[in-house]
Amino acid sequence: MILTNPFAELSVNVPSILMQLFVITMIALVIIGTVMDIIHKKNVKYFFQNAKKAKLQAKKEISAGEKTSIVVKTVAHEILTTSELGAGKRRVAHLLGMYGTIIFWISSVIMIFCYSSTNIVTPTYWPILWHIGALMTCLGGYWFWFFLRVDVVAEAYPWYRIIQADLFVLALIITSTLALIWSFLQFSNINVWDTLFLALFGISNLVLFGGVYWSKFAHMFYKPGAAIQKNLAEADGSRDNLPLPSDKPKQFGLGIKRESPKHY
Ligand code: HEM
Repeated sequence: MILTNPFAELSVNVPSILMQLFVITMIALVIIGTVMDIIHKKNVKYFFQNAKKAKLQAKKEISAGEKTSIVVKTVAHEILTTSELGAGKRRVAHLLGMYGTIIFWISSVIMIFCYSSTNIVTPTYWPILWHIGALMTCLGGYWFWFFLRVDVVAEAYPWYRIIQADLFVLALIITSTLALIWSFLQFSNINVWDTLFLALFGISNLVLFGGVYWSKFAHMFYKPGAAIQKNLAEADGSRDNLPLPSDKPKQFGLGIKRESPKHY
């Protein structure tokens, strides 16, 4: 199963062009959802206003070369490794989900646009990557969902309590789970069921990509922008109008030792 391109098998019943149109529709939904979110929250407007204000408060001018180096460092360190989440389970779970999803999406697009036909042989690494990507997303996502969510871990809500904020993570893990089940059923020739799970896989994608406006999907675009802006503000001395860190020793009192800190 792991060596089979499920989209090539699917092309016997569903024309490749339909699959490709589906992918293009999903990309369009992400763009529309993100633009609607930006208009509704006015976050990008605020972001640029803030950046302009920071520029006025800058204590030193940073050159184009310095700016490029800050952007490259932020991408390599903070964005690609989500260092914001500190060292620990939360970061490992996020990296599994993030890279799993990226691998799954890239291999889906390649297999659908280049190899969704039984006449073309798919290099085996693409289906392998597709299955591994889905598995990594499930691993990171279920770990986060059952054990790491703040409202479950720190606020003692039961794991089955679902709120709107869960739309993104749930749609993400359900999509990957359904992809794996569909691939298994198709490979095992369990006919009617594979069609049912293909339909469910399609619907879960519609929820994931169509739900951008209501979910946390767009954080994958906002977070990198915010990290770059924060580091630029640090370098030019404007520091988002925040004071410098204190040079006094940390004194939190004995209460701090009662419970080990949890990083959210
Ligand atoms: C394909 C890219 C990405 C995927 C699939 C992804 C996935 C997720 C998921 C499923 C969550 C949990 C959402 C929830 O609170 O319910 C999450 C949270 C988060 N993501 Fe991402 N993410 C991606 C990119 C990024 C990037 C680029 C950054 C930062 C530079 C980032 C930073 C965060 C942070 C700080 C949280 C909160 C984590 C927590 O509460 O434990 N993510 N992400």
